[in-house]
Amino acid sequence: MYLDPEEEKMLDGEYGEAIAMAMKTVLRVAEALKAERLVRVKNAHISGISYKNIGDEGLQFLEELAAKGGRVSVPSSMNPAGLDLAQWRNMGVDKGYFEKQMRIINALAALGIKPTLTCTPYLYEDISYGDHLAWSESNAVLYANSIIGARSNRDGGPLALFEAIVGRAPLAGLHVESNRRPELVIDFTSVSKEVEEQNMYSVAGLLVGALTGNRVPLVRGLKLSKERLDYIKLFLAAVGATGGTGLVLIEGTSPENYPASGVDTIKVDFKMLRETLDNYSGADEGAIVLGCPHLSLDEIMDIISRLPENGTATRKIFLYTSREVYEALSAYMPRLREKNVYVFADTCMVVSPLNIYAGKEVITDSGKAAFYLKAQGYKVKLVSRQKAIEMAFT
Ligand code: F3S
Repeated sequence: MYLDPEEEKMLDGEYGEAIAMAMKTVLRVAEALKAERLVRVKNAHISGISYKNIGDEGLQFLEELAAKGGRVSVPSSMNPAGLDLAQWRNMGVDKGYFEKQMRIINALAALGIKPTLTCTPYLYEDISYGDHLAWSESNAVLYANSIIGARSNRDGGPLALFEAIVGRAPLAGLHVESNRRPELVIDFTSVSKEVEEQNMYSVAGLLVGALTGNRVPLVRGLKLSKERLDYIKLFLAAVGATGGTGLVLIEGTSPENYPASGVDTIKVDFKMLRETLDNYSGADEGAIVLGCPHLSLDEIMDIISRLPENGTATRKIFLYTSREVYEALSAYMPRLREKNVYVFADTCMVVSPLNIYAGKEVITDSGKAAFYLKAQGYKVKLVSRQKAIEMAFT
């Protein structure tokens, strides 16, 4: 494989042990992917932050890497952690868990990664069409590739970290234009009205992911305008839960246009949507959890505008977002608490100890959250955002 002189120096240890170790790992992956060279990345996003997910081994690995002098060489951000850094006591989290989580965040910060603790870096980072990225959160990778036209593979957390340190990724997979062409067409034309009227974008995403696997699909007939960021986020996150692809070409929305001649077409009918939804008809009781992916400020303002003027929710509503959005909401917090609505930052329903503060039955509008929470043993009901709010006020 071709290495430029600087890459050779990194590999030879001229810039220190951590960089050499990172370069060796990136090259091992590049060889497995048959990449001819590396490509410089502009930005990195690191997942695998929650102590719940990475445990003591992950913590030790990060602390050792930081102690060896590891440091990212491009702007890098962090996925959500296992708790809200300020409200962890309200989540029923014990002090030992909190302290371990803080050690993970501190080790990542020592590596130069911004403690953004959100899974929506596309709302905050400076990313443009054609940029190469080292991102490792599936919904973020899908958004960057499919909506912005940037280029990232769905890297694992440690690989994205090593790529951030060397500032390069293998020139393979979705970094290469010829791999971004559609390999099948999924046609929603005959059900597009139902998907829109019943807000079934999460269900559509779960179905697309299951039908697609690791291929790049061209999705036809879904009205996913860029003005409806909420629908796009729910759709792509759900694709990432059930499928392995990092790119969905959405006709009329994605910036890239490639011909789809000679590939199979799957026509979606309402029965397929219904069967997908029926997998998540678990709980009529339980709390409402919204914010997978993390809610933007506009989305939370929209939710606030949909809360009835009078009355209090009969069940708790939990909203998950970034610290930045949380802070922008301070004037609304008294009214939200009065309504039985609680906002958490830095974490989400999937990576925090949800059973401690919300119980084992939940209702959500997110196909991704429904998929992962069900896998964790929760009883989950998947409904539209509007329906979830109505259920809380009846
Ligand atoms: Fe984000 Fe948690 Fe969902 S990290 S995409 S809110 S599972």
